[in-house]
Amino acid sequence: MSPLVISCSHNPASRSAILAREAIAAMEAQGAQPELLDLAQTELPFCDGGASYGHENVQPVRERIIAASGILLATPVYNYDANAAAKNLLELTGQAWNGKVVGFLCAAGGHGSYMSIMPFANSLMLDFRCVVIPRFVYATGQAFEQQTIADPAVQERVKRVATDLLAFSEALQGLTKDAD
Ligand SMILES: Cc1cc2nc3c(=O)[nH]c(=O)nc-3n(C[C@H](O)[C@H](O)[C@H](O)COP(=O)(O)O)c2cc1C
Repeated sequence: MSPLVISCSHNPASRSAILAREAIAAMEAQGAQPELLDLAQTELPFCDGGASYGHENVQPVRERIIAASGILLATPVYNYDANAAAKNLLELTGQAWNGKVVGFLCAAGGHGSYMSIMPFANSLMLDFRCVVIPRFVYATGQAFEQQTIADPAVQERVKRVATDLLAFSEALQGLTKDAD
């Protein structure tokens, strides 16, 4: 099983995508073989609670989530929450997340939305029994220059969360995947 990094932004100049790539590099440096699921490159329907589950791209994405040893969700903060693409993915794939270890890499416009990932985290914990890594990355535009992370503290934080994901996933391998 490999860790899965999900990049949720559809912005070609996405900063959360930079966090995603940095986390992948950090895990590779530790001998892991993380995979990337880029929602900007993956056409998915809006969840309608019915026919959308049958879309040709939904089942392969669901299988990648089920197969993941742990998941890092790299998301923009939009309107004090994860972006709609992240929420739509969760709506489309729901039970595939059962019992997963999940960490967050958040790109935001300002510091005021620091706690905004909590409703998403709550759904993962309470609906799908996920173990949410309590340390997450929250980076504003000041942390970036061009397509790189310029702030060494954010670089270090990404490495720390990537290391946490590997450690939590290893330690919790036997975690039950049922939703009871
Ligand atoms: C529709 C929209 C809503 C946003 N809402 C917030 C917000 O509530 N809090 C915040 O700190 N930044 C907010 N931002 C700023 C984004 O989080 C910021 O631009 C971030 O870099 C986006 O991630 P990305 O670069 O990976 O696409 C918003 C941006 C957009 C376009």
